Amino acid sequence: MAAAPVVRFPVFGLVRLLGLAASAAILVWAVHFRGGMALSSEKDKLLIFNVHPVLMLIGFVVLNGEAILAYKTVSGTKKLKKLVHLSLQFIAMILSIVGLWAVWKFHNEKAIDHLYTLHSWLGLSCIILFSIQWAAGFWTFWYPGGSRSGRASLLPWHVFFGVFLYVLAIATSVSGLLEKSIFMQSAKMIGRFSMEAMLMNLLGMLLVLLGALVILAAISPGAGKIDTYRGSSE
Ligand code: HEM
Repeated sequence: MAAAPVVRFPVFGLVRLLGLAASAAILVWAVHFRGGMALSSEKDKLLIFNVHPVLMLIGFVVLNGEAILAYKTVSGTKKLKKLVHLSLQFIAMILSIVGLWAVWKFHNEKAIDHLYTLHSWLGLSCIILFSIQWAAGFWTFWYPGGSRSGRASLLPWHVFFGVFLYVLAIATSVSGLLEKSIFMQSAKMIGRFSMEAMLMNLLGMLLVLLGALVILAAISPGAGKIDTYRGSSE
């Protein structure tokens, strides 16, 4: 197999910049264009929905990406890197559970069916698999910790599923943005070339670019502090 590409530009800085830009864009969308967010509301149920994309995107895409790269961006002992990695993933998982609860509550209160779209199927798979991945990683690599051979055999699968779930999170987010934009265009809430529709398209493009850079930074051998990401199950 060909060697992984060597990165000669500040990929980690770029990842952080794009992550901040994506977080800012979804917040501007929810607050400026969609009127804000609320965990409960009697008069505008859409405020409850708005919590969903914000938490999913910041948790499953931005924090997940930072967590994947923690072994290369955080200085210090391997134990500290591992702690940052699992803590960021834990926060991502909690945000996604609250985000799922918000959209579920919105559907209940508006009497909308659950799980009828491809986006919702991708999303539910993402949340379930991510939780299993986190629990298996915690159990094997942190507490109580598996045997040396158990850790060594799980590591390649943990890395594979980590990257796979990250790609799935991006695909799910892009499908959510597309679906919401089309819903709003069909309901004549926004125009095809409105600022809001363009912002949603741009955000989708940004997520795809962010995904490419996170994966590049993760697989590139020279990038980052010490390359402890691969080959060690300690
Ligand atoms: C990785 C991130 C995401 C995950 C895991 C996810 C997951 C889900 C799930 C499981 C549902 C079904 C809720 C139900 O049936 O009651 C749902 C609904 C929805 N989500 Fe997301 N979502 C994500 C990101 C987004 C984003 C960024 C948007 C952008 C606006 C979005 C828009 C929607 C919409 C419009 C619905 C309601 C219609 C439907 O059920 O498909 N989602 N999401």
